[in-house]
Amino acid sequence: MKIAILKERRPHETRVAATPETVRKLKALGAEVTIETQAGAAAAYPDQAYIDAGANIVPDAASAAAAGDIIFKIQRPMSAEEGIDEIGLLRSGQVLMAPLGALTNRPLVEALAAKGVTAFALELIPRITRAQSMDILSSQANLGGYKAVLLAANNFGRIFPQMMTPGGTLAPARAFIMGVGVAGLQAIATARRLGAVVTATDVRPATKEQVQSLGGKFVAVEDDEFKAAETAGGYAKQMSPEYQAKQAALVAEHIKLQDIVVTTALIPGRKAPVLVSEDMVKTMKPGSVIVDMAVEQGGNCPLSEFGNTVEKHGVKIVGPANLPAELPTDSSALFSRNLLNFITPMIDKETKALKIDLNDEVVKGTLVTQNSQIVHPSLAQG
Ligand code: NAI
Repeated sequence: MKIAILKERRPHETRVAATPETVRKLKALGAEVTIETQAGAAAAYPDQAYIDAGANIVPDAASAAAAGDIIFKIQRPMSAEEGIDEIGLLRSGQVLMAPLGALTNRPLVEALAAKGVTAFALELIPRITRAQSMDILSSQANLGGYKAVLLAANNFGRIFPQMMTPGGTLAPARAFIMGVGVAGLQAIATARRLGAVVTATDVRPATKEQVQSLGGKFVAVEDDEFKAAETAGGYAKQMSPEYQAKQAALVAEHIKLQDIVVTTALIPGRKAPVLVSEDMVKTMKPGSVIVDMAVEQGGNCPLSEFGNTVEKHGVKIVGPANLPAELPTDSSALFSRNLLNFITPMIDKETKALKIDLNDEVVKGTLVTQNSQIVHPSLAQG
């Protein structure tokens, strides 16, 4: 089993799909590991650390890709149209394990099938107990939620905690977290640790108790629709226009009093819901800060700009391009362990080769292409 790790080339990316620690563990499982030179440099993992862990370093992406039967990546491969033809480096029979955004990037999935690549889309790892240690969405969102609050604090002209000084008392900041999934929960915990008074909202009723257990106050329209607003998979449902209007009215009143707003609301496979309208921004106090974690999926605030911080109506609006990549050492460490935990059960103990068990729930959930076909049930038709 030969595993290769390529340096990531998408803009804003600093992470790497294996660390010296996971290289050591992959070797112990019987793999040979090849790393493109400098693949971990931006995440503070120098080539020498990989060499010490037993990896081979090669000078470019082509030689790394050629050396692997299995390729690990932290971003979906780029196409020639995107400027760098990473897909072209892959060959028939090769296995790709990476987040692919498979449900929204059909041309990529088609290209991988056409190439004969066996592709696993890591964002589709089912959210079942057994797969928690493989869950890249959670590990990265958790760090993103933490970093979002730090960005908010850095862009805020005031402090978060209440502070009593001889010159007078400074009031604590009020932070409002919108969307209480993995990122939102970490944002609540981080804002609380910094001393802010925290409120939070979500459309899933289960989050109320979670917010309260972290010391936050829950703010939402708790009607019958809200009480039923969770899919079997634990994700948010698209809410009715009537509910959205009621929620918007409540939020509009609440947001006027907030200093910090961190938005994390996503609905899988859809554009992010707009939760903070321009009219709401106009009512916020000068110097307030919004961090829009959903900016990549269209944003929870229409004024946010991908990869930029803008000031609108006296409010700073931060639209981070890739929050986990702003903590590349830890985010790579967690992603790499997720990937190690994903591949370990697929390695045959005797032959030390990859054995894909099509009856395994995690395999079924993530395998998108095999034998030149698109095989994932959510993608097979069309
Ligand atoms: P996500 O990233 O898809 O969405 C973030 C949050 O936005 C969600 O809590 C969602 O309910 C909320 N949201 C959507 N529309 C909204 C609106 N209009 N207003 C306010 N909030 C809105 O969510 P994430 O972080 O991926 O978590 C999804 C679920 O998966 C959660 O129930 C989480 O507890 C569960 N989960 C389960 C795991 C496991 O059992 N292995 C692991 C990780 C998460």
